[in-house]
Amino acid sequence: MKILMVCLGNICRSPMAEGIMQAKIEKYKLDVEVDSAGFEAFHTGDAPDFRAVRVMKQHGIDISGQRSRLFRISDFDVFDRIYVMDSGNFSDVKSMAKDVNHMQKVDYILNISHQGSNKPVPDPYYGGEQGFEKTYQLLDSATELIAIEIKNGGK
Ligand code: 4NP
Repeated sequence: MKILMVCLGNICRSPMAEGIMQAKIEKYKLDVEVDSAGFEAFHTGDAPDFRAVRVMKQHGIDISGQRSRLFRISDFDVFDRIYVMDSGNFSDVKSMAKDVNHMQKVDYILNISHQGSNKPVPDPYYGGEQGFEKTYQLLDSATELIAIEIKNGGK
């Protein structure tokens, strides 16, 4: 299975989601690959935001080697699941989808714990470091549930 995490800049939320999911893949020995992408080209090629790197390091996960990239239409074919962080990301992905099969792969990441709520993972970019810790906590809970679901045979 291949999972793509999507946010706007691909320097805060989705790189954190990728890093935490990767840690769960190792913890639960899952046959899963994870990547992340964004829709804002401003940071393409950049490492994650230093605050994201720092908070992740505090939790024992190194995401400093990741580089920001844009979402591309071929991602719909490569990935089995595409998790977005908020309604803006959802609209951005939807605008590139060719058919319902593409959109069936897409969901809000917090719908794993709050089914159908379409709750956002708030963007921590313009706030302080606590925002990044809150992002970590939200994504840690969500990816734990995703990992357990896959471990139990989720497709
Ligand atoms: P992210 O946060 O979507 O969680 O990576 C952002 C980072 C940078 C920008 C927007 C969102 N930006 O426009 O530069």
